[in-house]
Amino acid sequence: MTTLVQTINPYLLGGYAPVGTEIEAERLEVIGEIPKDLNGVYVRNGPNDQYPAGGRYHWFDGDGMLHAVHIEDGQVSYRNRWVRTTGFQRESAAGTALWTGLLEPMNANPADQPLKDTANTDLVYHNNQLLALWYISGKPYRVDPCTLETLGVENFRGKLRNNVSAHAKVDEHTGELLFFDYGPRPPYMTYGVASAAGDLTHVVPIDLPGPRSPHDMAITEHYSILFDMPLFADQEALKKGRNKVKFHRDIPTRIGVIPRYGASESIRWFEASPCYMYHTINAWEEGDEIVLLGCKVVEPEPPDRGEGELARMLQFLRLDARLYSWRMNLKTGAVKEGFMDDANTEFPTLNMNFLGRPSRYAYNVHIAPDPTLLFDGLVKYDTVTGQAWQHRFGPGRYGSEAPFAPRQGATAEDDGYLLSFIYDAPSDTSELLIIDARDMLAEPVARVRIPQRVPLGFHACWVPGENLPRAR
Ligand SMILES: [Fe+2]
Repeated sequence: MTTLVQTINPYLLGGYAPVGTEIEAERLEVIGEIPKDLNGVYVRNGPNDQYPAGGRYHWFDGDGMLHAVHIEDGQVSYRNRWVRTTGFQRESAAGTALWTGLLEPMNANPADQPLKDTANTDLVYHNNQLLALWYISGKPYRVDPCTLETLGVENFRGKLRNNVSAHAKVDEHTGELLFFDYGPRPPYMTYGVASAAGDLTHVVPIDLPGPRSPHDMAITEHYSILFDMPLFADQEALKKGRNKVKFHRDIPTRIGVIPRYGASESIRWFEASPCYMYHTINAWEEGDEIVLLGCKVVEPEPPDRGEGELARMLQFLRLDARLYSWRMNLKTGAVKEGFMDDANTEFPTLNMNFLGRPSRYAYNVHIAPDPTLLFDGLVKYDTVTGQAWQHRFGPGRYGSEAPFAPRQGATAEDDGYLLSFIYDAPSDTSELLIIDARDMLAEPVARVRIPQRVPLGFHACWVPGENLPRAR
């Protein structure tokens, strides 16, 4: 039986609606010209249910699907593939959905995996493979960057005992992967490092006061930065059997700074004003200070959207964040912090060669003033001068996270391109935009027609052509 809320479920309509096909297409139609100094793969992750879930479908429930555009010598090809997670394979074998979803009670779900690990959130490129990662912390799924074939679970030669959250970081200078895991039981967080060759070299527990929901971390040349933010379950509501997330306005945010190979006890916690943040932009060491840039959520407790199922479904998805900086003094323990802009921007990217090192530019999506999460443009920030440049996609056109692709041979930090899938609502079609990061106000350098709709999604990455396995 189709309920009213399924009929008007915003996550099954328009740009959110899943696609049911996996395709490849070569020599795509290009409007403009593909730059000759741009070679590599742009891959984006996102939720895309294989089978309609039995209950109310929430956007975050969908099975991870990757959409990739391969650019080589001015030619562009596209392919999309689901990540073959354990959950995906079990449902595939059963020919039906086995899990309900975030909005439904979990007791009908498989007992050995109450939440389906969908690997639908994030992508990093490490040790010649993509890792598809999940925001609730799950198995890192290895994916071939060219074929998008799922190669299995990355367990670092059998050594990985915990999970890996979304937003593990790759240090481009060393090739190491820095990651964290979080969960409902003590120590509530784990931090680890894997070498460039895929050996697990460091894992330590990080004791938190209780279960938390960190979403991201940051790295500098010598440190990793972890978060204990005061957005967590309301203890009073829990006693009454209700699970309600509360923003504890009287509890400071704690920012943990741990040497890259530090023991648990070596973490140093800095207290900052209470906040929640989904995504960091970058961090680096500067004299006695560690500088951290991120997108601070303006109102961490979701606004009350009234009663009813639709209101509850939308509750999760209004995101209002601002560019923000923290400076933590390693000598004095003091923290200086503050907003850097007043535009609602999130899903930040930067030139990944500068991750963990002093950087100047950030590229965020601009969030449209709609009830669901839609990106109506890109904003380039000069975080030194405070200057910002906006590239708007146009009416009814919504983008994806836009990774920075350095121009081949570039030396300047912002010498490169931003790539984003665009969903064009009036025509219900998608294209890829390639934007010159040094000329944000100009028309895109190229627009590439994608031969199927690319649903709205989460995180993306750029793999330079010279880093792809077959070029080695
Ligand atoms: Fe994220």
